[in-house]
Amino acid sequence: MYSSAQLAKLLAHKRGFDIEIAGIAGAIHDLAIIETGKFENHGPLGGPLVRDFLLEYNSKYGKEHGKISKEDMEQIVNATINHTKKKQYDDTAFDELIKDVDSLDRFLHGLETFDYYTKRTKKALKGLNLDIDSF
Ligand SMILES: [Fe+2]
Repeated sequence: MYSSAQLAKLLAHKRGFDIEIAGIAGAIHDLAIIETGKFENHGPLGGPLVRDFLLEYNSKYGKEHGKISKEDMEQIVNATINHTKKKQYDDTAFDELIKDVDSLDRFLHGLETFDYYTKRTKKALKGLNLDIDSF
């Protein structure tokens, strides 16, 4: 989670997104796995959990630290829902960002990379002027 948040900030900076919003999405996009202990269908299941989490954050801490806007919240929720569709390349640019971050994070953790994960990892690394073959 923490590494995904940091990678999301890096790629968000390169792609012109708000780095804090991307960092939050990177940090909590797998919330359903933590909440349910299950991997299957965790993207779609995570959407409502992430929305509830962010609404609670706004309610408890928004006044002191600034609320997450509805627009940003929906961006994070949609990226959470769609991040497991890594074969698909037609989601919004922010959804694509989180998919690429997730693929790169997996690669850097030494997990097996293949097919679309590799494509996304290469794309993410290229955006940072790095080559997958240099690892
Ligand atoms: Fe995930």
